[in-house]
Amino acid sequence: MGKKLVIANWKMNLDYYQARELSKMISKNNFKNDLVVAPSNLYLKAVLKICENNPQIMVSSQNVSEYDNGAYTGEVSAKMLKSLGVSYCIIGHSERRLYFGEESKVLTTKINQCLKNNIVPIFCVGEQENDRDKNEHFKVVKNQILTVLDKINVTSIKKVIVAYEPVWAIGTGKTATPYQAQEMHSYIRNLIIEKYGSEISETIKIVYGGSCNKNNAKDLFKQKDIDGGLVGGASLIFDDFIEIVRIGELF
Ligand code: 13P
Repeated sequence: MGKKLVIANWKMNLDYYQARELSKMISKNNFKNDLVVAPSNLYLKAVLKICENNPQIMVSSQNVSEYDNGAYTGEVSAKMLKSLGVSYCIIGHSERRLYFGEESKVLTTKINQCLKNNIVPIFCVGEQENDRDKNEHFKVVKNQILTVLDKINVTSIKKVIVAYEPVWAIGTGKTATPYQAQEMHSYIRNLIIEKYGSEISETIKIVYGGSCNKNNAKDLFKQKDIDGGLVGGASLIFDDFIEIVRIGELF
C-alpha cells in the first residue's frame, strides 16, 4: 500500500480572498504525504505563491484545453499551466462530462496534453445512479477507462491518477460504501493489470471521490485499492479537509 493522496477540488467556489485565506491556512501545516489543491484557474498563481514554501502541496487545474495554443478564445493550455508551476490537472470530471459534453475522445487528447507538458492527469470515471440500478456500473467504468487508456502511450500510463467518482455520490452526501468503492477500485486495478501488467498497475494511484468526508475517510482509505480521496465539498472547510489529510497520513 503506497502513501494516500488527498486532492481538494474546490470547483467553482470561493472568491479570490477566500481562496487565498484557505490556501494560507493549509500551507501553514506540515504534511507527511503530498496533497493536491485544485482551485479555479483564476487563483492558480496566487495559490502557487502562497504554497511555494510547503513542498508537500501540489497545485492542480480543474481542466485544460485539448489544443496546444492559438486562436481558442477562453481556453487555457497545458503549456500555460506548466509555465505557472501547475503540476496536476483534473480531467473528465463528471461535471465536465455532464454540463460540457466532454467525452472519451476529447478527454484522451486532454490527458495527452498534460503528459506532454509534464502535468499529472487526474482522470475521473464513474457511473450514474441508473447504471448501478441496472447493474451496469462495471461495464460503464470499463468503457470509460479503456477507450481513453488505449490511446495513451504505454510508457506514460503510470503517471496517470485514476479517480473513481460514482456520479450519484457527488455532492449528495450519499457515499459509496467502503465495500462498493473497494469493489470498483479492485475492478479498475484488474483492468490495468490485464492491459499493462501488475508492476504498472501497482504504481497507478486510484483515488475515491463522492461525498468523502472526515467521518467516512478512514473506512474508505483502509481499503486495499483505495489510494486516497478526491474531495469536493469537505475540502472547502479547513478543519474538515485537514482532518481528511491527517487520516490519509495514518496509513
Ligand atoms: P463532493 O465531495 O462534494 O461530493 O464532490 C466530489 C467531487 O466531485 C470531487 O471531485
